[in-house]
Amino acid sequence: MSRSAHPAGPRHADVLTEGHYSAPAADLNVLDEKVWARTVTRDADGALTVGGIAVARLAEEFGTPAYFLDESDFRARCRAWAEAFGPDADVFYAGKAFLSRAVVRWLKEEGLNLDVCSGGELTTALDAGMPAERIAFHGNNKTVAEIERAVGAGVGRIVLDSFQEIVRVAHIAQRHGVRQRVQIRVTVGVEAHTHEFIATAHEDQKFGIALADGQAAEAVRRALSLDGLDLVGIHSHIGSQIFDMAGFEVSARRVVQLLTEVRDEHGIELPEIDLGGGLGIAYTSEDDPREPHEIAKALSDIVTRECEAAKLRTPRISVEPGRAIVGPTAFTLYEVGTIKPLEGLRTYVSVDGGMSDNIRTALYDAEYSVALVSRTSDAEPMLVRVVGKHCESGDIVVKDAFLPADLAPGDLIAVPATGAYCRSMASNYNHALRPPVVAVRDGEARVIVRRETEEDLLRLDVG
Ligand code: LLP
Repeated sequence: MSRSAHPAGPRHADVLTEGHYSAPAADLNVLDEKVWARTVTRDADGALTVGGIAVARLAEEFGTPAYFLDESDFRARCRAWAEAFGPDADVFYAGKAFLSRAVVRWLKEEGLNLDVCSGGELTTALDAGMPAERIAFHGNNKTVAEIERAVGAGVGRIVLDSFQEIVRVAHIAQRHGVRQRVQIRVTVGVEAHTHEFIATAHEDQKFGIALADGQAAEAVRRALSLDGLDLVGIHSHIGSQIFDMAGFEVSARRVVQLLTEVRDEHGIELPEIDLGGGLGIAYTSEDDPREPHEIAKALSDIVTRECEAAKLRTPRISVEPGRAIVGPTAFTLYEVGTIKPLEGLRTYVSVDGGMSDNIRTALYDAEYSVALVSRTSDAEPMLVRVVGKHCESGDIVVKDAFLPADLAPGDLIAVPATGAYCRSMASNYNHALRPPVVAVRDGEARVIVRRETEEDLLRLDVG
């Protein structure tokens, strides 16, 4: 990611010349709409509002830290993905990004399907009324109990991830007297340009079955030979937070190649391909994500072209965006606590949350933006590191950013684009209480996941 030095400000001249951060925006009060949920704006008093409600009111009613999720933005993004791919394709929201019963209901109402990867996610989906046939079940180590439940519930597809699982699912399906619809997840050998922990299509890792050495073709042979399985397609997920479409195109091409080999060997044209999720979003002004219609066109063009060349019927495409739907729709609201200027370095701004509500900075070196949201300010920009309250120096929420130099304890600051993989990866480290998720829409705010309480902690600790 390109980083540029910025002309020295008044307080941190030494570090400013090192240039490990973007230049501050010309006006720190202006919100870059790329990184904020769609209904976020500033009101006449300069306070940030979402869904028509000012953050001061939200903080008073729901406390901080808290995630505020713009429901109409979430729904609009679901619709944009569904419309972009059209009736001949399927969009599965990846529940791992963030799942709750309210989210399941929104997905159901907006016509999306759901990808789950654990018994807990499956329970949430079924409990909130997602029809089982619209659920895909993933995972590299599904337990027998999880497979039993998924098959018993009648999920629309199970994505097989290993040779052992092919046999396991087949046996369980037979015991249930059904033919389970399945896809086989393959690793296509693409090096996705993203953090190594979230890249999943290179061969040396735990997911999927490799295409390269004929393993995937062998997996197809075995799946086709088992009565309990109805093999409907091939699945590939190359990684996460990816901007470059080239990796998806290579992946699509290699999956179509496998479909061709399957047709040639078995005389069967598998009717589906799933190209996974992984589309990047803007965390800072420097990120330029693609729109769903561009992604849909790029993927469907390549699949259609490759299939025509191979004289193969074009399969039904599905995708599994998680981050691209929920990520931009939420921000985390924090109250500023201790402010510690380190002369010649930067100013440490401590907030009332931290790595327990956003582990992504510590885990992936992720970049975020931040803004003062309870008021505007004309003060000079100061270089800050936003840190949490945990007993760990890696407890960083925003590595390098600018906030106004008159920032004071009690101010509210917000970190945008925290809808994906923040609440879902939140922890109780230091016995922190996981923050609530509050859905805001048309002037109304309601808790969809409540804040944890100390009673919750004690209830699990059975003495
Ligand atoms: N489909 C499959 C099979 C996946 O494994 C994933 C994500 C997705 C879809 C959704 O990917 P998305 O569109 O959300 O990028 N915790 C990491 C991301 C891990 C993603 C795991 N799999 C992070 O915070 O960046």
